[in-house]
Amino acid sequence: MRRSKLVINCQPSISPFLKKEVEDLGYKILRAEKNGVTIEGGWQEVIDLNMNLRTASRVLWLIKSFEATNPDRLYEEAKKIPWHKIIPKDGYVSIQSYVKNDFIRDIRFANLKLKDAIVDRMHEENGIRPDSGKERDRTVVYLYWHLNKVWVYIDTSGETIAKHGYRKIPFKAPMIEALASACLLSAGWNDDKGSFVNPMCGSGTLAIEAAMMAAEIPPGYRRKNFGFMHINTYDPQMWEEAVAKVKIKNKIKSKIIATDWNGDAIEAARINAKLAGVDHMIHFEKMPFEQSPIPEGPGMIILNPEYGERLGEEVLLKSVYKDIGDFFKQSCQGKMGYIFTGNSKLAKVIGLRTKSRTEFQNAKIDCRLLEYELYDGSRRDPESRPSPKPKPAPESDTDRPVKKRPRLTRK
Ligand SMILES: C[S@@+](CC[C@H](N)C(=O)[O-])C[C@H]1O[C@@H](n2cnc3c(N)ncnc32)[C@H](O)[C@@H]1O
Repeated sequence: MRRSKLVINCQPSISPFLKKEVEDLGYKILRAEKNGVTIEGGWQEVIDLNMNLRTASRVLWLIKSFEATNPDRLYEEAKKIPWHKIIPKDGYVSIQSYVKNDFIRDIRFANLKLKDAIVDRMHEENGIRPDSGKERDRTVVYLYWHLNKVWVYIDTSGETIAKHGYRKIPFKAPMIEALASACLLSAGWNDDKGSFVNPMCGSGTLAIEAAMMAAEIPPGYRRKNFGFMHINTYDPQMWEEAVAKVKIKNKIKSKIIATDWNGDAIEAARINAKLAGVDHMIHFEKMPFEQSPIPEGPGMIILNPEYGERLGEEVLLKSVYKDIGDFFKQSCQGKMGYIFTGNSKLAKVIGLRTKSRTEFQNAKIDCRLLEYELYDGSRRDPESRPSPKPKPAPESDTDRPVKKRPRLTRK
């Protein structure tokens, strides 16, 4: 693979976190945009980025850029690319694209022209045509055609790297792993921050990502297949060496707790954590969120409650959001509290002053990660109710005592 521009894409709202991740890996950003960043690189960078980036969706390797004002021109220019040197002779290729111009009404036609250019050139050079289709588990070619400018890339990730591979059992409305990671990066989570409590954990994404970060497990570490593995010059030893260099912490300092009142969610989260290799680092327990054990000392509590997309749901959820505010106020003093929600009306019901609000998007819904500094007397709303009896913290490898639930003081 010759050195070229590498375009690293992500969901639009998480690009500041992606930029920081790429810089932290030591790369110079050539260009930063709302849905990604560009650097220069070759094999080493492609492997490093696909292995380590928590917030990216894909890493694109630029093959060629040119001008085209009609589909035939796209075909001619794309056919000049020596595809037989890039795609294995008996390979399989899938075309993905973004097309925005007046020359193409149906994006499938642009894909077809590019696919024809690839298979025709390979047929001329090799005497056989590669297979093609929608599967992204082998060579993936990405076409970006905006106005009269065309960029042709190899998608070195293949299947998206926004998923970190462990969530075989999703529960209700799971967060995509890259977004969960971005929330944790936004909150400044690391293994020196104390405890991490994730009530309403669902399929466990936030807790699993927190454990992977604390244990320094790269998101690509256990993945067996990437797009770059289906490029002619790929040498499997390059990946094996990258995997061998990873130093994972078997034991972390933080105490990570994940709870949900639904037993199926806890079961799914446990299985997912096992697949991620962090099940021994997380204490899972079935319980209502208010009863989640809160360890003594510093730490963070993070919840992703349902947002209520239908009217009736929103009414029912009001009391849940109010109870979250009470829980923060009564049981989580001294901690940082975070709520990820897509419903600003419900967020107001929490009744606590936010320290910060970070904008995100989840499945096209505008969301916020609300940050609360939970010190005594931080509640603005004087209405609150007594809390349920405190529950002892689970056995763990740290001996931090459980913080006693303080008595409620009414202003
Ligand atoms: C939006 S989902 C969380 C998704 C999670 N972030 C993930 O990535 O999988 C909300 C979760 O809150 C749980 N939940 C709702 N009300 C609860 C309550 N009062 N106590 C505990 N869990 C609750 C639901 O069972 C559901 O799993």
